Amino acid sequence: MAKVLIIDDESSIRRTLREILEYEKYTVDDAATGMDALVLVQEQEYDVILCDIKMPQMDGIETLQAIKQYSDTPVIMISGHGTIETAVEAIKKGAYDYISKPPDLNRLLITLKNALDKSTLMSETKALKKVVSKQYEMVGQSAVMQEIKHIIEKVAPTTARVLIMGENGTGKELVARQIHELSTRSFAPFIEVNCAAIPSELIESQLFGHEKGSFTSAIKQRKGDFELAHGGTLFLDEIGDMSLSAQAKVLRALQENKITRVGGEKEISVDVRILAATNKNLKEEIEHGRFREDLYHRISVIIMKVAPLRERTDDIPLLVKHFVEQLSQRQGKPMPFFTDDALLELQQYKWTGNIRELHNAIERLLILGGSTIDRSSVLLFAKPLHELD
Ligand SMILES: Nc1ncnc2c1ncn2[C@@H]1O[C@H](COP(=O)(O)OP(=O)(O)OP(=O)(O)O)[C@@H](O)[C@H]1O
Ligand SMILES: [Mg+2]
Repeated sequence: MAKVLIIDDESSIRRTLREILEYEKYTVDDAATGMDALVLVQEQEYDVILCDIKMPQMDGIETLQAIKQYSDTPVIMISGHGTIETAVEAIKKGAYDYISKPPDLNRLLITLKNALDKSTLMSETKALKKVVSKQYEMVGQSAVMQEIKHIIEKVAPTTARVLIMGENGTGKELVARQIHELSTRSFAPFIEVNCAAIPSELIESQLFGHEKGSFTSAIKQRKGDFELAHGGTLFLDEIGDMSLSAQAKVLRALQENKITRVGGEKEISVDVRILAATNKNLKEEIEHGRFREDLYHRISVIIMKVAPLRERTDDIPLLVKHFVEQLSQRQGKPMPFFTDDALLELQQYKWTGNIRELHNAIERLLILGGSTIDRSSVLLFAKPLHELD
């Protein structure tokens, strides 16, 4: 049942509108002043708001602007004689539409219906966005995490190439996904390629694709990751493990924004934003001749370091809460309660595997521990069982 809020200082208008809308099966609240309305808007969700323009104290425009601070609910202005121009101004300030006083029944109902459609659409998109972003949510309020989030917000909208460095399990991939999500490319693909996992003979064909018959197992033409990521983001994960010959090809692609499929002649232009990650010290790799210095400079316009978990132990309680919620929901189990000293104990560990290791520890605690997780359950179960003795 759609819920409507009517804001008007005239009680007769409030009553008339209420009667009409209740007859049409809307749920109705009303407020005689902008202030009263704001209190209601802060407490509950409305699907549509009707707001009079001319009111003593806080007028309709001020009320509209204040409402917009708290909610995305469409606001329809009610315009009396001589306030049409103000109604137009209100629309510029974010009102959905306006109706005139005295309200014409048909026009009122149609405008209301349109606003409701918009409202439903918006909450659906919001719910969808939430599902996506929840999966890649970066939890943490520590100074280092705030700094990371701040840099992500700054670099995301640009096309700058970002090199993300950090130990195993610190969240490098998550950072890359966030950068993509917050960029104008978020509607285009995010293609991830794990350079360490692909045999060196195949990496070229993986990245650039191949033409049919270009090598024995190439029985069909295949598009490579650069082409698949066109318009979007290509995430070169574990780039420190890429072979020197593949590095040379990637360098060329980055210099020219063009690629050639293996066994192909044609040059194909690609528009791809490159993000790369590594847990290796690339400077050292360069010194040992294992990584090309020119490629390093191409990919490292911005360098982001993701700190190990032991340098942000303040975040551990938040991360625990996040993983407990996520995992118990997935396993369909009630959430256990973690005592303060259990959390303190978890903050003492070294976490060499960083956030991934913490995640696994929580999963074990949920399976092996009871409904209350105290310090002794942590001591017993937080580490893999074979490490215990
Ligand atoms: N700040 C965070 N908040 C919530 N979850 C996180 C956070 N950082 C990492 N994770 C989770 O921890 C796990 C490891 O993160 P991720 O894969 O991004 O790390 P990585 O640095 O790429 O690791 P590796 O070097 O092993 O590839 C993932 O499941 C990820 O969702
Ligand atoms: Mg990774």
